[in-house]
Amino acid sequence: MCKSRHADGPHHHDHHAHEHPEGGAGTHRLKQLGVDASDERVCTGCGCCGKVKTAASEPQRPDAKQAYSLNHAMIDGEQARRAADYAEHFGEPGYDDPARLYIDQQYAGYSDDDQAVWRELYRRQADHLDAHASRVWLGGARAIGLGPDAIPDLSAINANLRRLTGWQSRAVPGYVAARPFFACLSRREFPTTVVIRPKDRLEYLPEPDIFHDVFGHVPLHADPAFADFLQEYGSAALVADAEHTERLARLFWFTVEFGLIREEGRLKVYGAGLISSPGESRHCLASPDVDRRPFDLEEVCDTAFEIDHYQPVLFVLDSFAQLRDAMRSYAARVREEASGLSMRSERDLVASH
Ligand SMILES: [Fe+2]
Repeated sequence: MCKSRHADGPHHHDHHAHEHPEGGAGTHRLKQLGVDASDERVCTGCGCCGKVKTAASEPQRPDAKQAYSLNHAMIDGEQARRAADYAEHFGEPGYDDPARLYIDQQYAGYSDDDQAVWRELYRRQADHLDAHASRVWLGGARAIGLGPDAIPDLSAINANLRRLTGWQSRAVPGYVAARPFFACLSRREFPTTVVIRPKDRLEYLPEPDIFHDVFGHVPLHADPAFADFLQEYGSAALVADAEHTERLARLFWFTVEFGLIREEGRLKVYGAGLISSPGESRHCLASPDVDRRPFDLEEVCDTAFEIDHYQPVLFVLDSFAQLRDAMRSYAARVREEASGLSMRSERDLVASH
């Protein structure tokens, strides 16, 4: 459960400060986005708030133990250790190949209990999402072959995705920091947790698991507009300065994790943190306490978020094309400023000689 008081915002809604057991947040993913989760941000929710923020403050470098904190036999082998070690050094000379971050899913390693957990989590959400999830998520879930009966086999999911958008869901042993995470996205590869939460912790998960990552995130990767958005996001984030990185973290939070969309006049959920959370996927649509604002990229990027409780502010898209187009313009600006900066520093270098 989440223990933090607030993330980075001025808001503090005590009446919302209930625990947030099924989803929303986690230090793991915050650190992926470069957020310093070591201070007040100690949410240990489902891990979905992942990839956000200030790569300004150097991405956290977890030790190997942290990468294996689910302590699962499936991610305890030599291959996983090598991948985790590579992730820890990513960005240093000789450590720049995202492909080295990945492992095999080793599907036979799932136990009967693991499969039962998937079935139970799926069952809890299926009817609700049929009625309240974006048709893009629902269509994507069908298109990638997501089903109630078994933990997804990533190779089967990927065969479908390859045909649809070229995205791939690639197994990782655990924590992936901000920079390698963005590098993966820029290649249309989604670092995917393969372990699943234990059956006695269905509603309490300190890290993301395959239910959050594949059930929550991957169906949207089948949509061409969202697919382009997410790649554009990754490549912009790779070159962003500290200020843009923080703004991009907010964008990720309010779209990829907690986004709403209006379809045929009705509000629907699509963010993975909502999709994979029985509690918040209901609360976000029904509660009068949620301020649902029309999506505006500038406003989103300027809005601080909270990680310890249900979101008091959410943004509503008109379409995924709107999100993709807004991202394209913003990415162009980020790139332009980044190249301006590097030209300036080259000039300074020349001037100093
Ligand atoms: Fe997530």
